[in-house]
Amino acid sequence: EENLFSSKTEKEIHQQRATIESAIRGRVDFETHAVKLGGIQGHLDEICRSSRIYMIAMGTSTHAALATQTILTTLTNKSVSVMQATQFLDMDEPISKSDLCIFISQSGETADSKHALDYCNQAGALTLGITNVVGSSICQNTSCGIHVNAGVEVGVASTKAYTSQYICLVLLGIAIAQAHSITGSRVREMSIEIIDALRELPGKTEEVLNQKAKIRHLAHLIQEKQATIKESTMFNREQSNSLYILGRGFQYAVAREAALKIKEIAYMHAEGLCASELKHGPLAMVQDNFPTILFALKDRYQEHAFNAMNQLVSRGCVPFVFITEGDELELARNFKCKENVPFHIALPKSTPCLQGILAVIPMQLLSLYLAQARGCNVDQPRNLAKSVTV
Ligand code: M6R
Repeated sequence: EENLFSSKTEKEIHQQRATIESAIRGRVDFETHAVKLGGIQGHLDEICRSSRIYMIAMGTSTHAALATQTILTTLTNKSVSVMQATQFLDMDEPISKSDLCIFISQSGETADSKHALDYCNQAGALTLGITNVVGSSICQNTSCGIHVNAGVEVGVASTKAYTSQYICLVLLGIAIAQAHSITGSRVREMSIEIIDALRELPGKTEEVLNQKAKIRHLAHLIQEKQATIKESTMFNREQSNSLYILGRGFQYAVAREAALKIKEIAYMHAEGLCASELKHGPLAMVQDNFPTILFALKDRYQEHAFNAMNQLVSRGCVPFVFITEGDELELARNFKCKENVPFHIALPKSTPCLQGILAVIPMQLLSLYLAQARGCNVDQPRNLAKSVTV
């Protein structure tokens, strides 16, 4: 298996069917729809009593928090904030005993996150760690926790740990809803829908990984656009090495995470934006051929995403679009231009809450293929360390 992949990162991306399975295994009863998380069981009552929830992390782990913030808010019926550990400390956020502070960290050793954890412990808050390294500092210094079980992650770019963090956060939300007996039908239906979708998620992950030829082609198309820009006098140098990635709702975190991965391993400037931000500034960079990726998956934000697509198209920029399988006609119907529909890739359908997992995998592959095409060291990008302990 080792020889099938040219880097550890590539291998780790391809392990995600198995790592997603192990994030779920033993925690979900698919018959009764009950979720049980051993590491927090003894603290569930206290967790349910907490008044506010903070999710604190750095880098990719913050994006796992961002991706699940809305889901946790709905499932727990509490106010949920997402903060970078440094920003959290800079703000002197007033924390009390009644707050639940969740620390998400692959390594469990990130210095910034550890400092924020010390601060919360001193304030007497209930702390919960979501980590991939058993016995790490964050594991040891939190009141309770959930292991993401993704196995050792070697590549500096976090890939398989991210999708497992995402799953653990969603499971945490369901566990709280069930313990809290939030019986409102919306929450109950949502929990059941997520659990049913989790059962199918490993298979769908495989389906996404099987689309890699299309993603490789997308990497090629992005580079082609950038080459055209380089030769054109309409653009400046910055625009020829740039890429926008746009998403709304659940896909905003995907856009942010994609941009981080592309910067990190392909050394290409990429920006992950909320699609609604375009006309508040970013649209000024956009002209013919400026490369953009847009997520317009099937969920309650899809119409807004199609709107953003047309804002780009009317500036001569046709984005590459990710849609949900079966939405090809929907895309064509919403594409307000006489030209052919944009290059698009259809992802398998899941519940809207889990689509962020299926959508981020193509972005991990895209960053890998861009990095390979540009001759970058994928596993060990320049200037970076796997865990930032200082
Ligand atoms: O180990 P951690 O999850 O605490 O690390 C946090 C960040 O340093 C990390 O996610 C970083 O952003 C990754 N290299 C991104 O791929």
